[in-house]
Amino acid sequence: MPEADPQLFDKIVNLSKRRGFVFQSAEIYGGFRSTYDYGPLGVLLLRNVKDAWWRNMVQMRHDVVGLDASILSPPQVWEASGHLSNFSDPLVDCTNCNARHRLDKLDDPNVCPTCDTTGSFTEAREFNLMFKTNAGPVTETAAEVYLRPETAQGMFINFANVLNTSRKKPPFGIAQIGKSFRNEITPGNFVFRTREFEQMEMEFFVPPEEASQWYDYWCQERMNWYLDLGMSPEMIRLRPHDDDELSHYSSATSDVEYLFPWGWDELEGIANRGDFDLTQHANASGEKLDYFDQTSGERYTPHVIEPAAGATRTAMAFLMAAYDEETVGDDTRTVLRLDHRLAPYKVAVLPLSKKETLTPTAHEVFDSIKGRWIADYDETQSIGKRYARQDEIGTPYCITVDFETIDDRAVTVRERDSREQDRVSLDQLEGYLAERLG
Ligand code: GAP
Repeated sequence: MPEADPQLFDKIVNLSKRRGFVFQSAEIYGGFRSTYDYGPLGVLLLRNVKDAWWRNMVQMRHDVVGLDASILSPPQVWEASGHLSNFSDPLVDCTNCNARHRLDKLDDPNVCPTCDTTGSFTEAREFNLMFKTNAGPVTETAAEVYLRPETAQGMFINFANVLNTSRKKPPFGIAQIGKSFRNEITPGNFVFRTREFEQMEMEFFVPPEEASQWYDYWCQERMNWYLDLGMSPEMIRLRPHDDDELSHYSSATSDVEYLFPWGWDELEGIANRGDFDLTQHANASGEKLDYFDQTSGERYTPHVIEPAAGATRTAMAFLMAAYDEETVGDDTRTVLRLDHRLAPYKVAVLPLSKKETLTPTAHEVFDSIKGRWIADYDETQSIGKRYARQDEIGTPYCITVDFETIDDRAVTVRERDSREQDRVSLDQLEGYLAERLG
């Protein structure tokens, strides 16, 4: 059985900051708690995670289409979805130290983990997690709007629009990637639980009698996605929810969980939502949100299977899964063994020296690569240090332009994991990389 590695947490937080994956937001003003900015490498990693999801969930399928719905939405949406009445966590205050906690997340519901006092909590009260704001210059109730706490509702309220315009019929899905906002009581564990985060969600609409079969299908598909991108099978698991854990809309849910430094925790939920959402929105809006099957002459409200993942949380999990410290001789090297598809830079071009004789050829190499693969260019420090810097951020291939390159029109290509090196002529470089990077 694998064990959680608590020390990995600080290593990932430090690496993220040191190398420009993730910064504390508003750091120059002392930092804005629990919000994060994605730096030059983080933005590439996050984009690669989202691209890999989109490719798998939309591009490679004929039965799923995309959507980008608005973040601001009127109260009617959240009234009908049940979020206004149900989307809350039980909040308790400690009367000794004033700390606030989520009652359902406490190890002991009577002991405050901040000050260790027993019996100091107030009565629990339900705290709604949605962010409310006002649209336009008026601050009256009529202008109240919400920042979406999930992307899912965008798919439900556009069900008829997509059905009518895409010529899809159940079983088919609508996928969306985008920001969601939750006023979490206890954000934490770096980017794991934040108040602003990105989701990758897909609502798959199916004939009611096929729902449980599609639920099983999507549980398996989603596990395969993480495995295919390099997570080891011992580090992820699919955990079915107990009845008392199920959300207000769900008849069955399983979580994809990863073994984080603090233990098993959720990456994604796959839920059988039944016809709850379409029925709620049809009743509340007065619009028909059902499907007429011309072959059978039957009209029905499709049931929904929803794989709902967090992009920001998943990006961090991939960083943790890839992190390795390897002993090489007397040294230890840090290497991110990221799948090529997720690596921020695919290639780094490293002229052996900053001397002007090498610069034009090094630029030529960079220019020949940049259109196809995101590449870094680095000409300072010793070549050993530059390899180490690239290993630490997961760059699969380093290309060294040396003094012989000028004469033999060839470069040294070093592979990240094995550290093996090949001499490759410039006219074959693109083919060499294409074979390995795709
Ligand atoms: N539409 C269903 C839904 O939103 P969820 O389990 O509440 O389900 C789906 O959210 C995923 O979104 C989670 O598995 C998690 O990866 C991510 N997520 C939820 N809240 C988050 C938060 N506060 N910070 C980061 N990611 C979050």
